[in-house]
Amino acid sequence: MGYKILCFGLICILFAFYIYTPMPENIEEPWKVRIVDAAIKATSLMSNPCIERITSLKRFDELFSIIIKLDYTQPVSDENVTVMDTTFSDIPVRLYLPKRKRESQRPAVIFIHGGAFVLGSYKQTPLDLLNRWTANKVDAVVVSVDPRLAPQYQFPVTQEDVASVVKFFLQDKILAKYGVDPNRVCISGDSSGGTLAAGVTQLIQNDPEFKYKLKAQALIYPGLQVIDLSLPSHQEFEHGPLLSKKLAIRLASLHLTQDKALPQAMMKNQHMPHGSMHLFKLVNWSTFLPEKYKKNHVYTEPILGGLNPSYSILLDSRLSPLAVNDSQLQNLPLTYILTCQHDVLRDDGLMYVSRLQNVGVKVSHDHMEDGIHGALSFMTSPMYLQLGIRIKDKYINWLEENL
Ligand SMILES: *[C@@H]1O[C@H](CO)[C@@H](O)[C@H](O)[C@H]1NC(C)=O
Ligand SMILES: *[C@@H]1O[C@H](CO)[C@@H](O)[C@H](O)[C@H]1NC(C)=O
Ligand SMILES: *[C@@H]1O[C@H](CO)[C@@H](O)[C@H](O)[C@H]1NC(C)=O
Repeated sequence: MGYKILCFGLICILFAFYIYTPMPENIEEPWKVRIVDAAIKATSLMSNPCIERITSLKRFDELFSIIIKLDYTQPVSDENVTVMDTTFSDIPVRLYLPKRKRESQRPAVIFIHGGAFVLGSYKQTPLDLLNRWTANKVDAVVVSVDPRLAPQYQFPVTQEDVASVVKFFLQDKILAKYGVDPNRVCISGDSSGGTLAAGVTQLIQNDPEFKYKLKAQALIYPGLQVIDLSLPSHQEFEHGPLLSKKLAIRLASLHLTQDKALPQAMMKNQHMPHGSMHLFKLVNWSTFLPEKYKKNHVYTEPILGGLNPSYSILLDSRLSPLAVNDSQLQNLPLTYILTCQHDVLRDDGLMYVSRLQNVGVKVSHDHMEDGIHGALSFMTSPMYLQLGIRIKDKYINWLEENL
């Protein structure tokens, strides 16, 4: 008990310290963002090994996990949408089925939540609302997926779970059961959910085993590569707001290993194994970033072989959907990408826009000039950001017009 009080006291002190972190000038509701930012920073500092011992948390991600779980919802139907939890191919999904009568088949959206492959669930209130609103506004069936997560389940379990759900859903008998038009299915995701959505889209569009292809993919501030971790946005927004480079790397690396040498090498951009140099040109920001984002940054190649033993899985394109050649991008469907200016992952999204456009894929791109990473997760009280609502509206409007 004494430890818990000490732990709480420590978080309060750290919070008070971080609350004065400077924020970019153009962001909306800066005090609210400061509070969330300070809370995240204080919580991540609890990952200090010495503090971890005091709080007796086995891993630092557990504290985030506990906080996020406070915000879980039950499947509750409303006047417009029937909501239920079930499983597709043994993987938990939450379904949103519009109640409105309709003669023709409906479109469908498969949604994958973010959380660095470690945290989060479709049960989070803001995501539950997002999917409910999507079902009602677009008159679409929404399937929200909870793949198994790290560190308990490591790469590629999470990816394979998402692919299994999509494969299960795209069967004739399942599509018919829910009245879904096989030619109007979109896969969407935010942050690491965007990574998963982009990876599964590449798989489906290029695999003859899938009879039905996707009509669209929607990627909201996605992470799209782990090859070069020194892009201009990694440098400019290293300390956030909200998502810092260190936190992103520490969480996401749990997807691959619990060995702390990997995140350390990633921070220094020395994590890629020998023999991966051919991938650099596919994620070269100096080639793919629009001029206005390059500023005074100077391109330097990542350093190979800084890790021993090395992780050959870092070459896998399911972790880095940007790391495929043009012939594999050509078949991709209509794409929506939303990027945020003040986001450590910003340049991943911007580069994917360029690469897809270069091979003739139709892309709609929204860039939030005052945007910060993760805002969609702040659409409900007590932490309600107008930015979250604006992102939600842009995404749903795009679906309404394009799906
Ligand atoms: C049901 O749909 C109507 C029309 O879109 C909307 O005005 C109403 O707020 C919705 N109800 C709920 C509970 O979301
Ligand atoms: C990256 O792009 C720059 C400019 O386009 C070029 O000079 C450099 O050789 C490229 N490097 C790699 C590894 O593709
Ligand atoms: C693109 O990559 C695929 C798979 O790695 C390979 O089979 C193909 O030859 C490559 N195409 C080009 C044009 O490099």
